[in-house]
Amino acid sequence: MFYTIIGTQWGDEGKGKIVDWLSSKADLIVRYQGGNNAGHTIKVGKKIYKLNLLPSGIIKNKKCAIGNGVVLDPWALLNEIKKLKKDKIIVNKKNFVIADNVTLILPIHKILDEINETIRGKKELGTTKKGIGPAYEDKVGRRAIRLSDIKYPTLLKQKINNLHKFHESKLQMYNKKISYAKTYRELISMSKYLNSFSVPLWRLINKLGNSKKTIVFEGAQGSMLDIDFGTYPFVTSSNTISGQIFSGTGFSIRNNHKILGITKAYTTRVGSGPFPSELFNEIGEYLGTKGNEFGTVTKRKRRCGWFDSVLVKQSIKLNGITDIILTKLDVLDELKDIRVCVGYKIKNKIYDYFPYDETLYNEINPIYKNFKGWMEPTYGISSWNNLPKNAKIYIKGLEKLIDSRISVVSTGPDRKETIDVKKILMRI
Ligand code: GDP
Ligand code: IMO
Ligand code: MG
Repeated sequence: MFYTIIGTQWGDEGKGKIVDWLSSKADLIVRYQGGNNAGHTIKVGKKIYKLNLLPSGIIKNKKCAIGNGVVLDPWALLNEIKKLKKDKIIVNKKNFVIADNVTLILPIHKILDEINETIRGKKELGTTKKGIGPAYEDKVGRRAIRLSDIKYPTLLKQKINNLHKFHESKLQMYNKKISYAKTYRELISMSKYLNSFSVPLWRLINKLGNSKKTIVFEGAQGSMLDIDFGTYPFVTSSNTISGQIFSGTGFSIRNNHKILGITKAYTTRVGSGPFPSELFNEIGEYLGTKGNEFGTVTKRKRRCGWFDSVLVKQSIKLNGITDIILTKLDVLDELKDIRVCVGYKIKNKIYDYFPYDETLYNEINPIYKNFKGWMEPTYGISSWNNLPKNAKIYIKGLEKLIDSRISVVSTGPDRKETIDVKKILMRI
């Protein structure tokens, strides 16, 4: 069986927790896009792990892979491996591989990320400044350095020089300096270690796909941050929707593929951009505090709002989602009344989808449906029968609005705090 974990909103839906929950049954867990702009949290008992690049299956010592669709910062990867070692999680050739054709993020990309934000000024995107966008730009510009390049000193030197020449005038204009020689030296010193993980991933993954193995594709970000189908230009630089798993790993289409849409019981967003159901009142503050909504990567306060069924319905279609996994239900426990956005009114016209016309972004007025809160704790509940009546009514109501089944409900950050309504885990 194959499972793809997709964030259906603007990221931070709880993908890390769900991958960890699924990974006991997985033979391979693969990241296929994004980079260390992702922040995936896994809680096991009292211990909290935060991963940016390594797939969440590493916590359970499962075999993990980074696909070619990722942009990989070698410095960040080495730090993450070192940090995990302190927690006695050892990353080695047995449990980790990297696609040999993966694109690398270099120090220059982080500087360019900052310069680009400065140029945007008031219209800044609020990127994570990890160099993600500039690295993808260089990939598409066919000047990027890939993992296999760093094995060859002469080739590497030439490619680094070309890359820096290409960006030189921009750096000069903004008075930024970078040592090409240092980048070169450090990459050479990391080359042997990094390349010890290097494999033609497309071969490995298709071989596994042909045997009866379980592969979990771990998405980063969310569908509304997709470079094509998100709220452009307030998006990340990769395709975050499920179609990306194929070009981001070399895996080919097969049957038995479930696409699990991870969806928060309300909505959050970090960084700039439209957010129709955003709350600017004490309820928004409540969601942020109770949900501990602070960015895993940048520590920024996440913007909070009501569940937006228009957006989630759009994500379901874009990704071919087979099951929704509803997370953070417990965060709504203390609310007397709960609202759900069911449509948009834009310039006197009703929309049942999010339009990609940028000039309309600031004209969107949400239309709401009201639900009654349950006003009792659901935190940690692991059986459907123990949920309060109004919580069940809310979940059933969402199913109708998004026209999809909610197969799993998460009531806490730990893998045990999960209701497997449709017995997904049992059936793997
Ligand atoms: P990801 O980027 O999608 O993996 O999500 P993040 O890790 O950035 O943010 C989700 C946060 O919610 C993390 O701190 C998780 O530990 C936490 N979390 C996940 N599921 C639940 C849940 O059902 N209830 C609560 N209270 N917290 C949850
Ligand atoms: P996970 O995987 C939430 C947002 C940034 C910014 C925009 C562009 O943890 O859900 P980038 O650095 O990618 O160029 O920034 O995308 N963003 C995320 N928001 N969760 C994420 O990842 C994100 N990764 C990027 O805040 O608005
Ligand atoms: Mg996150």
